[in-house]
Amino acid sequence: SNFINDLTSGRGLAGQSAGPAVPVTILVGSQTGNSEALGKKLSKAMAKMNFNPELNDLGSYEMEKLPSEQNVLIITSTYGDGEPPDNAADFHEWILSDAAPSLEGVNFSVLALGDTEYPDFCKCGIEFDQRFEQLGAKRIYPRVDCDVDFDEPYEEWKKGVLDALGASAAPVSTFEEPTEDGYSKKNPFPAPILKNVNLNSLDSERETHHIELLLDGSGLEYEVGDALGVYPRNDEGVVDEILSNLPFKPTEEVPLPGGGETSLRDALINSYDIRNLNKTFIQAWQARSGSPYLRALVEGDDKASFDDFCWGRELIDLITDHPADFEDAEEFVGVLKKLQPRLYSISSSPKAHPGEVHLTVGIVRYHSKFRDRGGVCSTFLSDRSNDVNPGVFLHSNNAFRLPENGDTPVIMVGPGTGIAPFRAFLEERKVTEAKGGNWLFFGNPHEAQDFLYQDELEGMQKDGILTKLSTAFSRDQKEKVYVQNRMLEAGAELWKWLNDDKASFYVCGDASRMAKDVDAALHTIAQEHGGLNEEQAVDFIKQLKKEKRYCRDVY
Ligand code: 2AM
Repeated sequence: SNFINDLTSGRGLAGQSAGPAVPVTILVGSQTGNSEALGKKLSKAMAKMNFNPELNDLGSYEMEKLPSEQNVLIITSTYGDGEPPDNAADFHEWILSDAAPSLEGVNFSVLALGDTEYPDFCKCGIEFDQRFEQLGAKRIYPRVDCDVDFDEPYEEWKKGVLDALGASAAPVSTFEEPTEDGYSKKNPFPAPILKNVNLNSLDSERETHHIELLLDGSGLEYEVGDALGVYPRNDEGVVDEILSNLPFKPTEEVPLPGGGETSLRDALINSYDIRNLNKTFIQAWQARSGSPYLRALVEGDDKASFDDFCWGRELIDLITDHPADFEDAEEFVGVLKKLQPRLYSISSSPKAHPGEVHLTVGIVRYHSKFRDRGGVCSTFLSDRSNDVNPGVFLHSNNAFRLPENGDTPVIMVGPGTGIAPFRAFLEERKVTEAKGGNWLFFGNPHEAQDFLYQDELEGMQKDGILTKLSTAFSRDQKEKVYVQNRMLEAGAELWKWLNDDKASFYVCGDASRMAKDVDAALHTIAQEHGGLNEEQAVDFIKQLKKEKRYCRDVY
């Protein structure tokens, strides 16, 4: 099954425009569902004009067709350390290889999604863009790179692409999506907190909160595998400290990032990022400050010392250590970034907890430059969410779903907060009385302090829902033990589940190290227990991905 199913019917509206509909192939590389959602939106919009859009998941697109396409629009994200999304991996490898065909005669444009907080911003989109040109394709509109807030750049790109393709006969709402009447990212639901408890013991170095929110009356409905977006609020204490160091009145009206106005204090609490420093911000700050230190930092090209400067520093440190002059409060907020919502994998099944949604949130706290600091959204949820209901919205993730057939066994690898969607999966499999086996790999530093959901998991073992639980408590012995070590130890059985019983394999958690090591372990097991050679193991695992039996929710 592929996420495009419901969309293949897009046709140019006969009779509305002169001439036949222009064929457009939309190719989507999506990890967490954002590109997928944009691809669907674009396809819908184009189908109402003089286009015949065909939306394709890059994972199932027939690559041989590429050289004969007329118009190709690529929407792709990048994740981890500049990697393509899982569903785009094969296409990416092929198009960058010597085997890639000439693309002369193909028109194209790329929309790249990314996050400037990560290295190699939008790398996958950049690579596609450059490679298509190299192969002779014609860029009809320049690539647009989007930071986490992709809605506006998407609209800009869409408009440019439509113009370039000669859009016409656009009926009612070309640029305006039908307004969403329910709660959404633009109109979040204020969800009351029902429960907020630390799952680690107090003497643990880790702090992981189980948070239950009420969705009653919101009309929001989710499936297991989905994520919940949460709008954080900044710490009022820090905001007041910022204000006491600035010459502006807290009540002064300032513009909001998305339009409208509010008081400076309110804007700093709810709408602007006062924590994360990036290059654009430091440049803007430097221009208004006389600090030779900042000047050297901005003018130099030393990324390491730049990152080092940003680490553990926030707006308040710049205000106190490198004061800058601003014309007025409006100019001051003008250099700040918008406060972004965060996405958390949902850890409950709606069937087990009607009207509720649960999260499993790792709380980030640390001490640096003489202050206690913390993650904006995680400390908001743990410490400050009781006074004002957090604004939430749903983010669906069709790439991370339980098998449709309840008899299919599932293997789940979720160390740390990566356990979140698997608690949801297990609850769902229990309620739906799915017959397939369930095998969970969980890891954390210490069994005594960090065994998240221990009682529930042991209860599910007793019920027979959780068929196998393999734990890796990394610091309970001299040598580190990780989930992938447990996988290798149980390699023969794991291979049997995967190969003989056609289990689906899921991974959730850290992308840059854990998910890579787990992937390597999977390849090793296919060789050691499946008798495959290296190349065959690679093919076997590619095939798993194609069949959506290897799904990752990694960040
Ligand atoms: P550590 O912090 O003791 O190194 C959840 O964070 C668990 O994942 C912890 O037990 C952590 O161990 C472990 N972990 C750290 N790096 C990992 C890796 N590359 N692969 C798998 N687990 C890892």
